Amino acid sequence: MATTKTKTKAKKTPAGTMMVKRYDGRRVRQPEALAFLMKQHREVEALFDSFEASEDDAEKTRLVDQICLALAVHAKIEEELLYPEAEEKIDEPDMVDEAYVEHATAKDLIAQLEGMKVGDPYYDAKVTVLGEYIAHHVKEEETELFPEIKRADMDLVDIGKKLEARAEQLKAELGDPDSAGAKSKIKADASAGAHL
Ligand SMILES: [Fe+2]
Ligand SMILES: [Fe+2]
Repeated sequence: MATTKTKTKAKKTPAGTMMVKRYDGRRVRQPEALAFLMKQHREVEALFDSFEASEDDAEKTRLVDQICLALAVHAKIEEELLYPEAEEKIDEPDMVDEAYVEHATAKDLIAQLEGMKVGDPYYDAKVTVLGEYIAHHVKEEETELFPEIKRADMDLVDIGKKLEARAEQLKAELGDPDSAGAKSKIKADASAGAHL
């Protein structure tokens, strides 16, 4: 039967951790909350890569919509469920302040893109710069902030569950591409956090 699955050996993964790809392509074991966020990092990177490779206006529009939604959801769940507790518990809380400021700058670009259409002056450049900016932020999270969080006294299994549930909720709320106003909701949300 074509649908028969070959049984793979159960992976010996310590409870509450998952294997996930890091920014540099290496596979690493991470606590659930961080693995979930890193998976989202990889997803948005793939969307930026597809945008850079695309020459089709309709596809580019669709990709930018997906990028803006993915980043809006990701930034919000980090700010609601990870950063506040991290700020209290890690040894170097300044890192969290920097992350908030980086989010704010990214949100500013997202809000600009949400008000533009493919072909507008600087449209492609703004997407490219947003991609570079996110790559920088992601690298800092994965090399500096997340390792600090891992060392801190935080329940990363519980936070992981909350991140996942909240991401689903926000995707439904902000992301239904058929609902009129989905774009403006992301834009409003992005603008709200654009300036600290
Ligand atoms: Fe972040
Ligand atoms: Fe992140």
